[in-house]
Amino acid sequence: MSKLFSPLTLRSVTLANRIAVAPMCQYSAQDGFANDWHLVHLGGRAVGGAGLVIFEASAVLPQGRISPQDLGIWKDEHIAPLRRITHFIEQQGAVAGIQLAHAGRKASVWRPWEEKQGRVEPEQGGWQTEGPSAIPFDASYTIPTALTADGIKIVVKAFADAAVRAHKAGFKVVEIHAAHGYLLHQFLSPISNHRTDQYGGSFENRTRLVLEVVAAVRQVWPEELPLLVRVSATDWIEGGWNADETVALSRLLSKAGVDLVDVSSGGNIAADIPVGPGYQTQFAARVRNEADIPSGAVGMITDAIQAEHVLRTEQADLVLLARELLRDPYWPLHAAEALKDVTSWPPQYMRATSRTSRQRPTVDYSEK
Ligand SMILES: Cc1cc2nc3c(=O)[nH]c(=O)nc-3n(C[C@H](O)[C@H](O)[C@H](O)COP(=O)(O)O)c2cc1C
Repeated sequence: MSKLFSPLTLRSVTLANRIAVAPMCQYSAQDGFANDWHLVHLGGRAVGGAGLVIFEASAVLPQGRISPQDLGIWKDEHIAPLRRITHFIEQQGAVAGIQLAHAGRKASVWRPWEEKQGRVEPEQGGWQTEGPSAIPFDASYTIPTALTADGIKIVVKAFADAAVRAHKAGFKVVEIHAAHGYLLHQFLSPISNHRTDQYGGSFENRTRLVLEVVAAVRQVWPEELPLLVRVSATDWIEGGWNADETVALSRLLSKAGVDLVDVSSGGNIAADIPVGPGYQTQFAARVRNEADIPSGAVGMITDAIQAEHVLRTEQADLVLLARELLRDPYWPLHAAEALKDVTSWPPQYMRATSRTSRQRPTVDYSEK
């Protein structure tokens, strides 16, 4: 049996394989509500055989959206349409996860395919952003308001409230987004965090917010369900957040009840990043082997043998794929063939595969 198609157990949840759909913003929601696009997009990846399907960065507060079209989980009304999708995903034998997010100073921008780019002005549906310090991401972004102590409390509570809603919506995995230059990463990095209170300065102070969020979420998120955190291992720039700090933070996350660190990089400042196949797996390996916590590897993993190598060489326990799964939602089904392994196919598709493929249980789609 390949490593890629061996199950992974985190607390009470067993993933059928080690392939995860990385969170990917679809910029297709209205007022944060999931709709048919999210059902077909995410449901399609579950049909395609990924063990874990992580929903895109979902805003815990409306001002935490990147674009006005981001998915949200800041009010109870968001639960029902999300539940419809998690239910479908489970029917396919996959596990549904959600990334809880706050974009901080990188909020209120146009979605990528609009003609206009940069900040969305308030009269166009944008809003005043907030961050650790009043330093914009770049000149095209809004200058954020530095969060007050009370503002920080609101953020922490919003993550916990969102986790409660995520449970009601049927998610079995929550991932806290502390990467890519969004709010929690902004607090971690000395580039964006110039605070002089207990949330700025030392490593202990810069990591305080993410640890408070983890503690608040862990308190309400069921004991038997796994909690993930996505980090940017490095800002790729002198004087920024770095890989040694990521290892040190990962040790603290492990003690705080986090079950896996999903290791990405960059996003907080324009930097020279040596992008190429598997360019971030080195950081996943450091977290796994130096901080003694399971890790996830992400970033230009596109090939079954490459993914298998990452797992076999013990760089990570899980691989997350993003763009390759946009190109090919059935990547896991193809990967099993490439590795001469067996995976399960939906009964409806069995005529398209070899007889050695396993058939998934028949689902009664009339059941709600
Ligand atoms: C369309 C798109 C949307 C993305 N949205 C998110 C997101 O919501 N949260 C996140 O942590 N990363 C997001 N990412 C980053 C991916 O999860 C992943 O880390 C990155 O694309 C590198 O993996 P890849 O080389 O397999 O695409 C997004 C990437 C793409 C292509």
